[in-house]
Amino acid sequence: KKPQHFISTADFTAEQLYDFVYQAIQHKVQAKYQHPEPRQDRPLAGKTLAVMFSKRSTRTRVATESAVAYLGSQDIQLGVNESLLDTSRVVSSMVDGIMARVGGHHEIELLAKESTVPVINALSAKYHPTQILADLMTIHEHVHHRNNKVPADQYSAHTQHPRETLPGLKVAWVGDANNIIQEILVAFPKVGISVSVAAPEGYVCDEDVIAIAKADAQKTGATLMFTTKPEEAVKDADIIITDTWVSMGQEEEKAKRLQEFEGYQVTMDLAKRGGAKPDWTFMHCLPRKPEEVDDEVFYSERSLVFPEAENRKWTILSVIDRLIVKGGF
Ligand code: CP
Ligand code: NVA
Repeated sequence: KKPQHFISTADFTAEQLYDFVYQAIQHKVQAKYQHPEPRQDRPLAGKTLAVMFSKRSTRTRVATESAVAYLGSQDIQLGVNESLLDTSRVVSSMVDGIMARVGGHHEIELLAKESTVPVINALSAKYHPTQILADLMTIHEHVHHRNNKVPADQYSAHTQHPRETLPGLKVAWVGDANNIIQEILVAFPKVGISVSVAAPEGYVCDEDVIAIAKADAQKTGATLMFTTKPEEAVKDADIIITDTWVSMGQEEEKAKRLQEFEGYQVTMDLAKRGGAKPDWTFMHCLPRKPEEVDDEVFYSERSLVFPEAENRKWTILSVIDRLIVKGGF
């Protein structure tokens, strides 16, 4: 049987995405609120995950590393001195799963094609699926806690299901046409979340990504909008999301990008001018630079960025548990 990989949320149904989020919440509740003692059942005991990153990382690495051993690009021959094909065959013969952060998306596809164990995409230039699961979880928690008027760190046994909280929301993206918005586009419309994207002239998402988003939106009734004007995108938004203007690997384009993204900083004024919902919230995958969002928004009550970062841990655990421990859907 071919292993089930986690290359993009595009490969999973809405119900499966809800399941990842729901299980992540169970992991969080159990670890943080129900069990003062460390868990006695150790679902990952005896399992080995190879974590191979060819780009730097704080959140994805720390969220994963607590459970596993880490192999950095200086530690192993990940596409440096040995082909990805050979690395994939060798490593997958020794471990129960591979989590890899790569450059081009073809690299993670090649790893998955050759691997006999599940491969989890820890970021490629095209997609960042573990991030977007954490985002869905964070949005779910925010809406759930708001609807039920309980503090964000309180859970009861009667939590709402993500199926009840996510559909019908509207997200505005103000920023680069990068891996984060591309992953949002293949996940959010599928669960009924509308997405408006503002990116400067010449910064466009891949055609196949837009095609998936359009097909999903048609099925769920979510809307999609692409514009070069940030004010247009934030209209009626429940959540405004952005990311760095200079992704890893684009460092040489920094000066040009800073110029071309002028006017794209997320501020209270932008949200007001554009007509975001009065209770709009802010999200960012981090790491953050002040040019894309000012301190007033980033450190405000509206900002969900720190719970969002924490939720990387619970959602990555959920993915590892589903694909590696339980063997997939
Ligand atoms: N958001 C995210 O993936 O952060 P790291 O690059 O630090 O892992
Ligand atoms: N778009 C960013 C995300 C970092 C988590 C990058 O690829 O560098």
